[in-house]
Amino acid sequence: MVPWLTPSLCAGLRAAFQRVGFDVDGVPALLGADAHAALARDEPVPARLASVDAGSLGVLVRLFLLGDTEPAGAVADALAPVEVADAIAAGLLREAPEGLTSALDVRPHGDGVSGWWVVSDLETRPGGRRAALPADHVLGIGSASLSLAAATMRRPVGRLLDLGTGCGVQALHASRHASQLVATDINPRALALAAATFAISDVLVELRAGAWLEPVASERFDHIVCNPPFVTGPPRVRHTYRDSGLAGDTVAARLAGALPRQLSDGGVAQLLACWLHVKGQDWPDRVTSWLPHDDAVSGVDAWFVQRDVADPAHYVGTWLRDSGVDPSSPAARRESEEWLAWMAENQVEGVGFGFITLRRTGATDPTVLCEDLREPMVDPLGEEVGGWLDRVSWLREHADDAALLAARLRLAPSVVLEEVSQPGPDGWRPVAAAVRRTDGPGWRHELDSPAAALLAGCQGTLTLGELLELLAAAHDEPTGKLVAASLPGVRELVRHGLLVP
Ligand SMILES: C[S@@+](CC[C@H](N)C(=O)[O-])C[C@H]1O[C@@H](n2cnc3c(N)ncnc32)[C@H](O)[C@@H]1O
Repeated sequence: MVPWLTPSLCAGLRAAFQRVGFDVDGVPALLGADAHAALARDEPVPARLASVDAGSLGVLVRLFLLGDTEPAGAVADALAPVEVADAIAAGLLREAPEGLTSALDVRPHGDGVSGWWVVSDLETRPGGRRAALPADHVLGIGSASLSLAAATMRRPVGRLLDLGTGCGVQALHASRHASQLVATDINPRALALAAATFAISDVLVELRAGAWLEPVASERFDHIVCNPPFVTGPPRVRHTYRDSGLAGDTVAARLAGALPRQLSDGGVAQLLACWLHVKGQDWPDRVTSWLPHDDAVSGVDAWFVQRDVADPAHYVGTWLRDSGVDPSSPAARRESEEWLAWMAENQVEGVGFGFITLRRTGATDPTVLCEDLREPMVDPLGEEVGGWLDRVSWLREHADDAALLAARLRLAPSVVLEEVSQPGPDGWRPVAAAVRRTDGPGWRHELDSPAAALLAGCQGTLTLGELLELLAAAHDEPTGKLVAASLPGVRELVRHGLLVP
């Protein structure tokens, strides 16, 4: 049965949740930091203990967050004005021998400013046992959802598309910066649960059913976000939330080729993706070949950020476990053998995972870059994506050497100089130096001593050309030679935000 939580039932739930404090502020305040953190690690006991004397809020915490069965009368009190019979008929609650249990996962979610509620399928059976998930399972807020939300640029835009909305989490976050929201999904169950998410959260989103870009074929958007079913392997759909039915990384290839066509001029698409590392092929060659190259869509700036690479065995084991399958069961062994055989036949040596940012510019010289950023990041990537796009535009406007030489640059405040020295006969002998940003992705660039001297002078007063002339005079070198040697590195430092125009 596809649950059907009507708009009036959802409005009633919102009223009940607000009344008892079942929200992003009330639940952590009740549980306290330790029990809240334990719950996030799937350890329910501290939260159960903390909720014992908490009246209706405790009932809803145990019912929706811990999967407990609660007495029918207590649930009726907690959910008023919603009638229990209506909640059962809508597929939200289920009758159990000792009371009522939840048939769906309903949880508060926020971004630090706004608070919402997200409805998805339960991942555990009553009693806490994890079950093999059905094909149309609607995933709740997972680590991939959160990493895309954190990597999404949050600048005010007009129309935003959330492709493959699932429980609706990306659209909720987008509601803070987009004035019009459209969300699509192929799974009717996902559309029903997303509708409930939006109605309870009182967020206006137009939902459309259909595969990929079919439901929005003739439309353009200022921003597209997409956490697609990106799991790579043989072409099949065991679970709609993770399998595209397309072989290998074809889903990422198709989306990277198609999304720019749906963007308005200057519009940005951001998606999560997996890409194959195939024997004898560099991953950047593979992913950049996916970009559109026809006259209809030219000039797409593209930034591929690789956050992780897994070997095939690790990758397959991770995703088998994710779908609730015991990797040592006979069914999992068969699936694993088939999956690994497909990887071997296709010469797959690893699977990369990361973010793709695409901007439709119309420029004749778009910037296309692939970067390996596997270290933990200090800050969420979203802010950096906006900065990266701004810097890429600035560099395009200053592509001419004369324009760059006329710029007044300064070092970003977060930049530090790191020097490495070795002991020598006369004390410490400097052998290497680098500048590093202590924020964002922590980019680090090695420097020789003329470059270090140049950067020390970048204080926003003298132009780059003036600084290079002074440096050339000080080292008795031709200015032209120093300019030619320095500008490529300066461009890299600007692109990574170490030098700021
Ligand atoms: C990984 S889940 C992401 C859900 C949610 N956006 C999030 O960030 O958590 C992928 C979603 O894409 C949907 N999906 C799968 N195949 C699709 C297709 N061909 N067209 C549109 N959506 C699809 C699934 O039903 C699922 O809801």
